[in-house]
Amino acid sequence: MARTGDLSPAEFRQASRRIADWVAGYREGVEAFPVLARVSPGDTAALLPHSPPERPEPLEAILADLDRIILPGLTHWNHPGFLAYFSSSSSAAGILAEFVIAALGVNAMLWRTSPAATELEQRMIAWLRELVGLPEAFEGILLDTASTSSFTALLAAREAAGLGARERGLAGRPEVPPLALYVSEQAHSSLEKAAMAAGLGRGSLRKIATDDRYAMDAEALRRQLSADADSGMRPVMVCATIGTTSSNAIDPVGRIADICERAGVWLHVDAAYAGPAALLPELRGHFEGWERADSIVINPHKWMATPMDCSALLYRDRPAFRASLALTPEYLSSDEQGALDLMDIGLPLGRRFRGLKLWFLFRQMGAEGLRAMLRRHLGLATGFAERIGQNERFELVAPVPFSTVCFRARMPGGAGMEDGGLADEWNRELLTRVNRRGPVFLSHTVLGGRYTLRLAVGSVHTASRNVDEAYRLLCEEHDAMAAALDVGGEMSA
Ligand SMILES: Cc1ncc(COP(=O)(O)O)c(C=O)c1O
Repeated sequence: MARTGDLSPAEFRQASRRIADWVAGYREGVEAFPVLARVSPGDTAALLPHSPPERPEPLEAILADLDRIILPGLTHWNHPGFLAYFSSSSSAAGILAEFVIAALGVNAMLWRTSPAATELEQRMIAWLRELVGLPEAFEGILLDTASTSSFTALLAAREAAGLGARERGLAGRPEVPPLALYVSEQAHSSLEKAAMAAGLGRGSLRKIATDDRYAMDAEALRRQLSADADSGMRPVMVCATIGTTSSNAIDPVGRIADICERAGVWLHVDAAYAGPAALLPELRGHFEGWERADSIVINPHKWMATPMDCSALLYRDRPAFRASLALTPEYLSSDEQGALDLMDIGLPLGRRFRGLKLWFLFRQMGAEGLRAMLRRHLGLATGFAERIGQNERFELVAPVPFSTVCFRARMPGGAGMEDGGLADEWNRELLTRVNRRGPVFLSHTVLGGRYTLRLAVGSVHTASRNVDEAYRLLCEEHDAMAAALDVGGEMSA
């Protein structure tokens, strides 16, 4: 066979076995790495050649450099001690599917450019919908991230608001009133970015106050909508969050849906993280009302063991999405009756074969396996929260409806929230020290204006020993800081 520059079939077989070994070894040995990368800006770049190689290099040389240059510069998202942000972890099913996806190299932009990819994606959305208990009226697509999903929903909502922005844009139109996007003050920044990108501008954001559980105050939303209507503003969308980024707070979606219905405003639900928890019948109460939304985002690449990237955007009104983005130049036209071209729903033309990842995942883990993982995470988070709540070194600062625990360390002598900047500094240092130790990685947020520590359990790999380790290191470092305070009279770095 003539050489194409690519590997021969025999070479490919050998190389893929080698890669399979490398991946298996990485998964087995990942705990030997510190979770958080220990490099400084520029360290990795300094080890990389300035120019590409002229001659082909053997796989062994590439793998040696992967180990030597790249791995030390990674924060290991698949380390079981990854307890920061919201994890994105790679189940075996997801990794294997990614391998097949790359080999198939399918671009599911049109139905005809891979009918099975479009139809599998649609069926995977239906499986997800059924698993989380949403009505059949919802269909959807798989996009890269929740940021893209919410942005896409905002474009559809903008069109549904009758602004004609698709054809005429928004600029230079005196008849277009000021526009508004309603979120809670705890909503994810991706909504703010969506407003920027959709031409509403950051100024359109109405950040509704939250209650003592950090959930949107529905009455405040109602008042704001009414005041804005009086002043001639046009509401474009309300976004309620189930499982906010900082503390997993749950906006009262049922009451918000009532308000949206009365005001005729599009309701989007951001369940990017917590959505998979609706697989658990015992948690369905947290999702009450989301079935009334116009659109919902759930990220399998967060709490559903799916490797980056995979975000499910569910919606009822396909025509609204088509109205905002469908556009078919001649070179993309096709004539199959009843075929759905997914390029019509979202911004990207080219589309990865993400449905295959969910297909492998659902089949290899089964709904049962996914539910078991979610329950394990909930148990670990609740257990950690209980220990934190009983330990005088710490205080819990938010409810734990899902798997994220928000807490603060008290300074010796009992100073906590009330002690202002000093206590914030104490918490910041504690987090730095714990993360520097290596086996775990936690992150922070600000709640009630105060620096807050945050432990989020969401990785398919995380076990009780990892959460125990986090607890142990928090106590140890807290004690070491307290001892240093006794000796030195002030905190050491
Ligand atoms: C509630 C919520 N919505 C949206 C996002 C954005 O997710 P993505 O990175 O998929 O855009 C996040 C990220 O953590 C999130 O927590």
